[in-house]
Amino acid sequence: MHKDRIAGFLAEDHARLDGLLRAATADPSHIDHEAYDRFRSGLLRHIGMEEKILLPAIQRLRGGEPLPIAVKLRLDHGALASLLMPTPTLAVLAAIRAILAAHNRLEEGTGGLYQTCDELAGGAADTILARLREAPEVAVMPHSDSPAVMTTVRNACARAGYAFGDP
Ligand SMILES: [Fe+2]
Ligand SMILES: [Fe+2]
Repeated sequence: MHKDRIAGFLAEDHARLDGLLRAATADPSHIDHEAYDRFRSGLLRHIGMEEKILLPAIQRLRGGEPLPIAVKLRLDHGALASLLMPTPTLAVLAAIRAILAAHNRLEEGTGGLYQTCDELAGGAADTILARLREAPEVAVMPHSDSPAVMTTVRNACARAGYAFGDP
């Protein structure tokens, strides 16, 4: 049995999502909205896998005790999900890239979320992996740039420790 199976599976999903974001923004004068929607739906599904399957599984394996880093990861997920709502302007894209770069390091790195999960899971890794693979697709909503949405984005980013928009 490979010892980094969950880490491998989710890191590969990070790479796939990075590729979709790159494809969506390859031409700086024009967002490829089809690729961007695939990125949006893929990132929401990925966040769902972590929030609904991985973090609860780790908490169970730790006897009900959540990982200390789970709080920060959930705040990052909230910021990322909020940034997927508005039209992808340069500022929105820059914020998504900055958060993902730091966030994915926390998950993929040595001692990070994924390695911790593989270590704790042991024989349960197969079950967790099967549930991750079965995670449902997520439909994306049309973009909204309403003042309420932009306030949500600013607040969610601020809570996660990132500045977005006007100070
Ligand atoms: Fe995450
Ligand atoms: Fe992740």
